[in-house]
Amino acid sequence: VNAPVLPHSVTVLGGGRMGSGITHAFLLAGSQVTVAEAGAAAAAAARNRIARMMAESAARGALVGTPDDVLARLSAIPDLESTPADSELVVEALPEDVDLKRRALCVVEARVRPETLLATNTSALSIDAMAAGMQRPNRFLGMHFFNPVPASALVEIVVGTRTGDAALDAAHAVAVALGKTPIVVRDSPGFATSRLGLALGLEAIRMLADGVAEAEDIDRAMQLGYRHPVGPLRLTDLVGLDVRLAVAEDLAARLGPRFDPPPLLRAKVRAGELGRKSGRGFYDWPAS
Ligand SMILES: NC(=O)c1ccc[n+]([C@@H]2O[C@H](COP(=O)([O-])OP(=O)(O)OC[C@H]3O[C@@H](n4cnc5c(N)ncnc54)[C@H](O)[C@@H]3O)[C@@H](O)[C@H]2O)c1
Repeated sequence: VNAPVLPHSVTVLGGGRMGSGITHAFLLAGSQVTVAEAGAAAAAAARNRIARMMAESAARGALVGTPDDVLARLSAIPDLESTPADSELVVEALPEDVDLKRRALCVVEARVRPETLLATNTSALSIDAMAAGMQRPNRFLGMHFFNPVPASALVEIVVGTRTGDAALDAAHAVAVALGKTPIVVRDSPGFATSRLGLALGLEAIRMLADGVAEAEDIDRAMQLGYRHPVGPLRLTDLVGLDVRLAVAEDLAARLGPRFDPPPLLRAKVRAGELGRKSGRGFYDWPAS
């Protein structure tokens, strides 16, 4: 196990759901964090999101100092080109689009020092595909965080063909400094988490379609029988049925028909039943 090494300065590309959470976690740990968004309005929205998360952490007693003390270490910038050159770590959390990510990483790599560690938070895209075109692919790997970032215990480190040992060691040390347990996975479709999680989710959907049991009972089977904190159908609602469909299509293309999306999943996505975010998926989600 590597000794924890907290980067002094971190840049997070994209301040959406995951980018805000990753920013939040590094701020709590003590880093200086820059979050880069697309435009001034998006940067202000990201700052507000992170400030709200920080207020919640303060209410739970999880802050050293006041929210304002911690937020003094945050800057939100309106474009990737302004990434601070002295960033020790850059974590990319842009939308799941390999071309967008590849272009962004090239722009940022040209701005930072040669020793900067570059990481992507992709859920399932290929690290090697993203590294094509990079000057220093040996300094690049996946650091896959989970939602909500501050509360989740895992970082899945994804090693590409050209990732160097020093980068792997550095990512390991960063994960430990955040209080998380890293696992190391070779760049492969769906890594460990998305591949196994999806296999369970798709089978649960097939079982529901086959009339094996009601959604609640399928979920209870895994919660009470196997101690999963959330059942596979409820988890699919939380992740988003459209997100799971896209990952299933990608894994089916790369790993074979065992990941073919079940017709019930396609039908629900077509009907706009996307899970919690749309108010209905395998469960009803009344607006809170
Ligand atoms: N949502 C999850 O639970 C989850 C979990 C693990 C990993 N991921 C991965 O994390 C990544 C981000 O997912 P998310 O759910 O946070 O998405 P999101 O849509 O909430 O956030 C993406 C952010 O990127 C910004 N953005 C888009 N183009 C930009 C550009 N050119 N420059 C700067 N900012 C730009 C958007 O404004 C948005 O705020 C994806 O790769 C996703 O697969 C998501």
